[in-house]
Amino acid sequence: MTTYEINSNKAAARMQSTGRAVILAVESSCDETAAAIVKDGRELISSCLHTQIPMHQKYGGVVPELASRSHVERVGGIVDLALEQAGMTLDDIDAIAVTCGPGLVGALLVGVSYAKALAYARQLPLIGVNHILGHVAANYISHRELEPPFICLVASGGHSHILYIESYTRYEILGRTRDDAAGEAFDKIARALGLLYPGGPNLERLAREGDPSAFKLPIGLAGIDTLDFSFSGLKTATVNLLHNAEQKGEQLNNADIAASFQGAVVAALCDKTLRAAEQKNAKTVALCGGVSANTALREALEHECTRRGMRFFCPPLSLCTDNAAMIGCAAYYDLMDGKTSPLSLNAQPQLQI
Ligand code: KG4
Ligand code: ZN
Repeated sequence: MTTYEINSNKAAARMQSTGRAVILAVESSCDETAAAIVKDGRELISSCLHTQIPMHQKYGGVVPELASRSHVERVGGIVDLALEQAGMTLDDIDAIAVTCGPGLVGALLVGVSYAKALAYARQLPLIGVNHILGHVAANYISHRELEPPFICLVASGGHSHILYIESYTRYEILGRTRDDAAGEAFDKIARALGLLYPGGPNLERLAREGDPSAFKLPIGLAGIDTLDFSFSGLKTATVNLLHNAEQKGEQLNNADIAASFQGAVVAALCDKTLRAAEQKNAKTVALCGGVSANTALREALEHECTRRGMRFFCPPLSLCTDNAAMIGCAAYYDLMDGKTSPLSLNAQPQLQI
């Protein structure tokens, strides 16, 4: 065993026996450079973030090379800021957590390399976190009373999953998208409507002025005995609606299109999540991921859960989209379960759950 392994294993064992750990977490999987300090799993001490959205906006989407370069420039400053806002120094940190996948390889590499260097320099345990499971943990930070088991819908820009969270570190995948992720579909239709990146929030804003029943759009895999989603048919139908109108020289109401599209996505997400909850006889449902910032989705799922006597949880808006607080929280439960990462940890752009 190397000196690092001996020292970090000893530190991890100490934390497992006391349940206490101050974790510094880094997130750089896409277009946000984030750092956070999380104490004993659920207490958020500080959370800082630099968003690259304005930089990518003029290209209509994330430019991976620009994203990586910006992460390199920002990561050190963001970590320093998280420490400063916590009133802490590296001496107060017990473990280092980092998103190791899925995401953009160059972007992930920045966070992973930084975290590894920090862990090695300070001889601290390193915990590589799956970004998707990080999103689930956003709910633990915002709702202290939430405990497994529960059903969790993870809807982000890259992923859409229905998970049965059995314990803090064990889960079952009940459903997933067969094509586009929910956020990806939002972004693509927003673009077709001429809205700026990232399309989700802008489409939601436009949809508020529209009528969700104006256009009847298809709900993927509806009525079929699967908990999987499909958004490609809905996406094609919406784009065709726009193209056909354009060819005929007709002017459709974009707000109505946005509202109808959003309504179809929300219906699909709610229907499958509630079916999963019924299948598992779950009493609790949680929502997370960037798309969980969508008010129509939050309200619809909350309404349906309440109607069925289920408890419903979703994070505040600041913890819906990418952040490092959720990574620190997920890392805590891994650490307590003895799951730390070696210094050979690598960025895994296609990491599955
Ligand atoms: O979780 P996230 O920040 O990054 C990934 O892990 O992908 O999710 C970003 C996605 C984008 O597709 C964005 O358009 C979508 O979440 N999003 C929304 C809203 N806010 C963010 N989609 C619909 N309505 C919103 N209010
Ligand atoms: Zn995310």
